[in-house]
Amino acid sequence: MPPRNHKKWLSQPNIEYISSECYNNKEIFEQEQERIFSKVWVPMCHISEMYNIGNFRTTQIAGTNVIAVNEANGVRAYVNNGEIRPSGTLEYVTPYKGRLLHCEVKHGGMVWVTLDSNPSQSVEEWTAGAFECIADAIDTEEMEIFHYHKAIINTNYKLWHDTNSEFYHDFMHYFNRVSGFNDEYFARKNIPFDNGHVNVSSFTVNYEEYDGFEDRGELSFPNLPPNQWYMVDLFPGFNFNLRGSAYRSDSVTPLGPNKVLIEFRGYGLKKDTPEERATRIKHHNSIWGPFGRNLHEDLIGVAGQGTTMREGTEARNILHGRHENGTIHDEVGMRHYYSAWGDMLGVDPMKPLAA
Ligand SMILES: [Fe+2]
Repeated sequence: MPPRNHKKWLSQPNIEYISSECYNNKEIFEQEQERIFSKVWVPMCHISEMYNIGNFRTTQIAGTNVIAVNEANGVRAYVNNGEIRPSGTLEYVTPYKGRLLHCEVKHGGMVWVTLDSNPSQSVEEWTAGAFECIADAIDTEEMEIFHYHKAIINTNYKLWHDTNSEFYHDFMHYFNRVSGFNDEYFARKNIPFDNGHVNVSSFTVNYEEYDGFEDRGELSFPNLPPNQWYMVDLFPGFNFNLRGSAYRSDSVTPLGPNKVLIEFRGYGLKKDTPEERATRIKHHNSIWGPFGRNLHEDLIGVAGQGTTMREGTEARNILHGRHENGTIHDEVGMRHYYSAWGDMLGVDPMKPLAA
């Protein structure tokens, strides 16, 4: 490397970063609701939660109450104007049916809804191939939900995306260090897709390396080698995790710049025997349940980030400059996501408040 002259010494290095203002500003939050969450396809629930006619699920998208109902001719979604009595089937104090929304059941039986009255892309087009790596595993056999819990965390929803996309923090997870840090792990690739999505290629997890855990190959999802772990990070913050014998989805609902509702679902195969289901649930909960090895560590991590970056704190730069040939700790997924985020919002993530 040649010696630096004075001019070079003074020049700004080409650092890739975003400003912490992306995470804690009220105006940015409102723009995200309008320009992102009102436009994208949201995976709001799973078809197995609403098998019977009359079953329904509700959510809120960009501040609008939404209801998906299993009707005689399939699942339909509406803006929800009703007041619902807490019962398992539809029972309303007032009629619920507001505007009919576009709704599709896709990618392993997820129910996708968009507020956009004239979406330019189908779910297939929007997801842009990000699910292809797990399609044979989640679409061959019918899946069934066996776990649901939610968390409301004082943090920005994008930090939940980040914890699923930025893998350098795997050093924080004792379980992953012990069972996962092999040569295949470090060769995993972050693969960007259109619309800001990324998936993380698989590798073989050595579960038996963790004291008390066993190989999970026997209950692998269809068409997969044993003990694989795939991840699909879907813009703007929906995550799909296939860890060999159990599948998990995360859906975020931003409640404010520094508040997010995260819904966690766990899935097995509908054809499971009771014994197989019990084992899948154990596998799921031991890592991803509220008292599992990993999930709470991520929640604590993002809660800490939410505290340090809350509104009123000094703006700082968050670096995304790790380049490692697209492999697991390369921040290409973060750069890809925030590039799409900036495009959709019409702002520069380095200076999101600049006029
Ligand atoms: Fe994590």
